[in-house]
Amino acid sequence: MAGEKAGVKSSSTIVPCFLFVELVIMAGTVLLAYYFEYTDTFPVHVQGFFCYDRAFSKPYPGPDERSKAPPVLVYSLVTAIPTITILTGELMAFFMKAEGTQEKTIVTADCCYFNPLLRRIVRFLGVYSFGLFTTTIFANAGQVVTGNQTPHFLSTCRPNYTALGCQTAMQYVTERRACTGNPLLVASARKSFPSKDAALSVYSAVYTVMYVTLVFRTKGTRLAKPTLCLALLSLAVLVGVVRVAEYRNHWSDVLAGYFTGAAIAIFLVTCVVNNFQRVLPVALPGRPQRPESVLGMPMVALPCVESPLEKLSGPQTPGSPFTEIT
Ligand SMILES: *[C@@H]1O[C@H](CO)[C@@H](O)[C@H](O)[C@H]1NC(C)=O
Repeated sequence: MAGEKAGVKSSSTIVPCFLFVELVIMAGTVLLAYYFEYTDTFPVHVQGFFCYDRAFSKPYPGPDERSKAPPVLVYSLVTAIPTITILTGELMAFFMKAEGTQEKTIVTADCCYFNPLLRRIVRFLGVYSFGLFTTTIFANAGQVVTGNQTPHFLSTCRPNYTALGCQTAMQYVTERRACTGNPLLVASARKSFPSKDAALSVYSAVYTVMYVTLVFRTKGTRLAKPTLCLALLSLAVLVGVVRVAEYRNHWSDVLAGYFTGAAIAIFLVTCVVNNFQRVLPVALPGRPQRPESVLGMPMVALPCVESPLEKLSGPQTPGSPFTEIT
């Protein structure tokens, strides 16, 4: 009965907390991503270039829509694959009462307003979409701040070398109006580092792969999970390879994009959604440490951040966030 009371009490703060903290942060993130993506609120840094620089003289491959990995395809896969995987995994775990999720049902049973299944789905997909927008912001901010040019920059810029007085290739042009090409194309050819498509696809793939590895239980087959994971990762890597092959990005841009996406996904999974496991109470001195994660890594070694969403799951009274689960 006491647990039930605590559950009812804490649930009265859950909804305002969710609305005013999570949704406001989420809306701010989406808005910032929108401003980077569709407006020129943040003007791109104008870098100079060397006359006849070979690294930037590749032919113009056409607009992004004509790419072999067009944005529409990349964005739909990046949205659809993790959503479908997480929905499938949660429904399977819920109805098969998998080992890792059964504990969770007991702990959250006292809360009568939120179904534990729904809560897990909302938490994992919510954190996923938060990370997606964060990755977009990181990539766009990097591109705007560095202003590194794409390999086809000089083909869209079309500098008038006669007017600029370029005699040798070693001459550096800093003039802001050096370009005579289409200003929109020139502006987008200045946004190269890091590659946003590579970052988004690797973020999506790493998040999904970690979900599959940590949550799916496949008894009797050892290769099903690794096959799925490696297929997803190679699809994500392929997006970066296509970007390089079509002269839309340099290798360094793509590698930086991979790193950004993977780092954000690993951080969110290990620290924010707690490896997709049930939330454990924070270890206090004199009490046994929290169990090691599924990966076998000691979790205490990581500087972890607890998501406010997690506060929904324990039978905690509003006053004391460290109430022990009994
Ligand atoms: C380049 O600049 C020179 C000198 O200002 C001018 O005579 C020439 O017509 C320009 N060429 C193009 C293609 O604009």
